[in-house]
Amino acid sequence: MTETTLANLEPTAELATPPAGLAKDRIVDFDIYNPFTDSNDLHRTWMDLQASTDHKIVWTPHNGGHWIALDSDLIVQVYADHERFSSFNVLVPKDTAGEAYRFIPLSLNPPEHQPYRKILNENLYSSSIKKLEPGIRELTAELIDGFVDNGQCNFVEEFAEQLPLRIFMQLVDLDVEHLPKLKHLADEFTRPDGSMTPQEATAEFIRFTTPILQERRGSDRSDLLTAITRGEVFGRPLTDEEALRMAIQVMVGGLDTVVNFMGFTVQLLAQSPDVQARIAADRKLITPTVNEALRRLPLVASGREIVHDTEVDGVTLRKGDMVISPTELVALDPDMNDDPLRFDLDRKQRKHAIFGSGPHTCPGQFLARSEMKIFLEEWFDRIPSFELVPGQNLRHRGGIVGGVEPFMIRWPAQSG
Ligand code: HEM
Repeated sequence: MTETTLANLEPTAELATPPAGLAKDRIVDFDIYNPFTDSNDLHRTWMDLQASTDHKIVWTPHNGGHWIALDSDLIVQVYADHERFSSFNVLVPKDTAGEAYRFIPLSLNPPEHQPYRKILNENLYSSSIKKLEPGIRELTAELIDGFVDNGQCNFVEEFAEQLPLRIFMQLVDLDVEHLPKLKHLADEFTRPDGSMTPQEATAEFIRFTTPILQERRGSDRSDLLTAITRGEVFGRPLTDEEALRMAIQVMVGGLDTVVNFMGFTVQLLAQSPDVQARIAADRKLITPTVNEALRRLPLVASGREIVHDTEVDGVTLRKGDMVISPTELVALDPDMNDDPLRFDLDRKQRKHAIFGSGPHTCPGQFLARSEMKIFLEEWFDRIPSFELVPGQNLRHRGGIVGGVEPFMIRWPAQSG
């Protein structure tokens, strides 16, 4: 259980001073980038924090000091209500990571946000993604065929870090040789490892992306980066800087999320033989499997900056304060979904906010859904039954986007 006492939480260089007069039972010792205490399980860790208090919102001194919304309705409100909760800053610590993250469209609020977002919608909505599906299927089959006869694989390294990333590189028409560098830069925003500052990560992104956009502006290529250079807002073309900020946003959004979502899903399925058996026997269950994975395994806890002093759950959040809103806790609220930890293909209704809520709701969700569905179809054709290799220490990672450490699964060799 996460401790909610102030013990050992005296302000230090790393720990911020609590807002004046804040009751001690509102203060939690919770670092979103390193949240684990008893459990290595991201979803249970968020639930433990929620269960440790009756409050709908708490405050942590980590990462510059910020609020954490714990109530499912409040979390959805924070994402959707830009008049109180601005996306100008979405990362903590606000003064370092937040300041470095001025990407478009996430850091813009409505109404300014809308014309920029339209450019992404036109290129990421389901009709555009349909065209990618034969390539997604071909690469999925090729990757699985590459290891199926081994009877085992490191799922994260051999599949989850391959398929979505390579498809993303096709979408933006960049050579896969750039992948390790871009993935590392994207991760520095969502789960920083301390190897560079957020400012350095932004500077590296700019250095990498600027010449590519210059080369693509005016070209007749059909990739997403070229489409961004052709984008128009308020009756004029995007400036070079706007195009750059949007291109980087797409890379940060697209390079980390599906990888980890696939990792979480397969780790859970590997421990759910009954679910596997049902999917193997009835392919109509693939879509409910994708939908249930989206409900059970949300992984984003993004932030907002308070626009003006506002009362929430009996406390005053001050203008400029930051609030983190874990999407995990919407789906895992028993009032939203019965027996929320259960992976249940038969749910009549699924309530979640894995893709956020309101104006910034993820435009990449069609690509994510499509990759997941094709992956499961091709996987169950070849590997209908699999399990975790015993004796592993399964570890999750905290962060704005939660993650899964590499893990091994195995299957009977003859099933290949
Ligand atoms: C399972 C996979 C994914 C999940 C769980 C996910 C989740 C989210 C969430 C929660 C947000 C809202 C953040 C906020 O309001 O602070 C968001 C926004 C965004 N996502 Fe995704 N995402 C996924 C995949 C993708 C992919 C594949 C792409 C790109 C191809 C992408 C691009 C973006 C962009 C550009 C935004 C900002 C939208 C805006 O500001 O209007 N995402 N995503």
